[in-house]
Parts: sequence; structure tokens; C-alpha cells
Amino acid sequence: MSVTEQPPAEGPGATDAAQEALEDRIAADSLTTRRDYLRIVATVSGGLAVGGIGVAAGVLHRHGDSEGIPAPKRIAGRLLPGESIAFRYPEEADRAVAVRLGDGSLVGYSAVCTHLACGVLWRADRGSEGELYCPCHEGIFDPRTGEVTAGPPPRPLPKVLLIEEADGSVWAVGTTRSGESATEGLCRQLLEDRPEMAARLGCPGARSTGEEGLRS
Ligand code: FES
Repeated sequence: MSVTEQPPAEGPGATDAAQEALEDRIAADSLTTRRDYLRIVATVSGGLAVGGIGVAAGVLHRHGDSEGIPAPKRIAGRLLPGESIAFRYPEEADRAVAVRLGDGSLVGYSAVCTHLACGVLWRADRGSEGELYCPCHEGIFDPRTGEVTAGPPPRPLPKVLLIEEADGSVWAVGTTRSGESATEGLCRQLLEDRPEMAARLGCPGARSTGEEGLRS
């Protein structure tokens, strides 16, 4: 069963159950699991695959700096084109926003401006496909990349890695630091927490596990 085939989790303990399921997949020594994670990396890197990934986050300094890989969190039952949702991830203090762009792509970012930490808003009616807007000093971020397109913000918005399940629910599964690609963020956290998985995925700096022959 792939990561995107996990059943939706509801109620107390759901987050723990989802994390346990994800960890099982990380730990499992199977090519299926490995392909799932490669797909996550590839989709997050592109950020364009329909039904693939999203991202978002909250307090700036915490994004990408949580201790270990954050627990997966269900943030929406469904997100339709043009819709957005504000949520908190990985901690309750970490404000984030996820957006379904017009072509179906899911993206998510920190909702904390990299200038002076004002709240970032989604404006669907601006630009060719909407924009992430900070009203404090007219800061604007590209909705596909999080890069600054106008105003004083000095850095891109950190990303929150998202997965869409088969039932349409959207889950936050990780974060990156500002300016860090999804692949870089995932590999950094795997190197810290799951070095064997980092090696199998070919993350730069990962120590060989002797399983390179499994790579496809
Ligand atoms: Fe966002 Fe200044 S705080 S542009």
C-alpha cells in the first residue's frame, strides 16, 4: 500500500496512528516503500504534480527546524482548485497555508512573512494564478515556489510538504527551511533521523548502507 493509500485518520490518536504508519513505511525494507518516498521527493521537488504535494508552515524559525521528522497531520478533507486553508504545522504555534492552484497543484508555505513576521494571506484573484500576499509592507510571494516577487521580504517562504490521499484528504508531512528545496529538506531530516533511508534514497552525504544494488 502506498503512502497515498493510507486510510483517513480521525479522532484522538489519529496523528499517532498516521505517524506510526508512515514510520512503518520508512522502516520497511521494500522497494514499494522506497518508490513511495522517491515519489514524494520527486513530486515535492517539482511541486507541480496534480494530486501530489503541497506545503505550508507557521512560526518562521521553527519551519524545518523541528526535532526529527514531524508527525503527519491531516489538514483538510478535500481542497478544490482555487481553495486555500490555513492550518498549524508542525506545532500549534506554526501558522501555515495550503493552496490548490487552478491546474490542480497543491502547494503550501509558512504563513509567516520572512520580512517582519506578519501573517501571509492567499489572494486568488491576483496575478495569473493568485499570490501569497503580506499586507504589512506589500510583500508578495510566488504561489508555485514561495520565492519573493515583490516587496521587502529577504527570503522565500519555507515550505510544508503535503500529500494528498486517495480519498482526497490532504496531509502535512514535513517542512523545509527558507530557500531549501523539498528534496534538500527531506534528505536533511532523513540524514538526522533515518540515515539508512537517506542512503537508500541517494541523499547527498548519506553513508553507504551496502544496499545500493537495490536502487533503480
Ligand atoms: Fe511582510 Fe514586511 S512583514 S512585507
